[in-house]
Amino acid sequence: MRSFENFIEQKLAERQSAGIYRTLKPENLLIDFCSNDYLGFARSSALKEKITTEVNQYPDSMNGSAGSRLLAGNLTYTETLEKVIAAWHNSETGLLFNSGYDANVGLFSSLPQRGDTIILDELIHASVIDGARLSHANRYTFKHNDLQSLEDKLKQAKGNCYVGIESVYSMDGDTPPIKEIIEITERYNAALIVDEAHAVGLYNKGIVVEQGLQDKVFAQIVTFGKALGCHGAIVLGSNKLREYLINFARSFIYTTAASFHQLASVKIAYEFLQGADSEIESLQNNIAAFKQGVQHNPAYPLLVSDSPIQCLVLNSNEKAREVAAALQAAGMDIRPIFSPTVPQGSERIRICLHSYNTIEDIALLTNTINTLLHG
Ligand SMILES: Cc1ncc(COP(=O)(O)O)c(C=O)c1O
Repeated sequence: MRSFENFIEQKLAERQSAGIYRTLKPENLLIDFCSNDYLGFARSSALKEKITTEVNQYPDSMNGSAGSRLLAGNLTYTETLEKVIAAWHNSETGLLFNSGYDANVGLFSSLPQRGDTIILDELIHASVIDGARLSHANRYTFKHNDLQSLEDKLKQAKGNCYVGIESVYSMDGDTPPIKEIIEITERYNAALIVDEAHAVGLYNKGIVVEQGLQDKVFAQIVTFGKALGCHGAIVLGSNKLREYLINFARSFIYTTAASFHQLASVKIAYEFLQGADSEIESLQNNIAAFKQGVQHNPAYPLLVSDSPIQCLVLNSNEKAREVAAALQAAGMDIRPIFSPTVPQGSERIRICLHSYNTIEDIALLTNTINTLLHG
């Protein structure tokens, strides 16, 4: 066997023996406690119909964008959409990216320079970490949501300093003390960047806007693949930042722009969100019912979260796998989250609640968990 084939085989064997081998699974008929479709937009036939109506209003629109934004792939529709979304989020401007991954990689790789400093919450999404790795800046992490740890790292910062946090953490579902983080970052003259992927739609325009903090945040990332049920992302910030990203963010420059259908989906999903009060209420009721129904066991703590992301920490890959398998056998799509995706010892099951889960679904979930972990 050639050495590179040998390498692949060895790495896969290591994964397999560690019990963390990843495989793709097709869709299933289990109760959805797994997807990010918090408000049911991705599966909404009413939204699909509205998107079709929108697309049909542009009979000359193309199937594909036929180029990057800087070449043939830019439309008046794209730029209008950016303005509309930015205005809705009370932001000066926005720049669309093909995904949240691209947005974070583009922003964090292009802005911080050699000699600058990036400080990230230790639980920040992989896309931010990958962007930061591509920059030549000094990188630090601070303990999750820990203001003292953040301040300790800010004291060591050199050059321009960028601090990255999420407003709802994707693996824990919790929210940071944003006002306090702003106070500290302002004191150290650092630029705060907030990833709102899991907040927009659930906390209306996102936590930053809901708390009236948009003037104190340097940039926000909003992704469209969670509550909005489609695909893509926008970086919100100043005109100068937008111009900078158009010139330097390689994940923006060197990729084919989104198709017209994708842009139309995002536009209509935003409009749909403005009439989604009943979906948001159902989701809140389901979160409350889950938290009430699940029995607390200090050996397997439920992480503090008011969001649809609810995690039971099971302390090992084996236990996480065992509990997830039992929940799947009982008819629910719940996945284990292994280390190294989460720190060792905090392996868990991650439950995503939705507006369309019924009260019976939630009862089945909590009863099964209670039997598995307390019975
Ligand atoms: C916090 C956070 N940021 C960014 C992303 C990436 O977004 P996308 O799925 O649009 O690439 C995700 C998706 O998992 C996320 O959870």
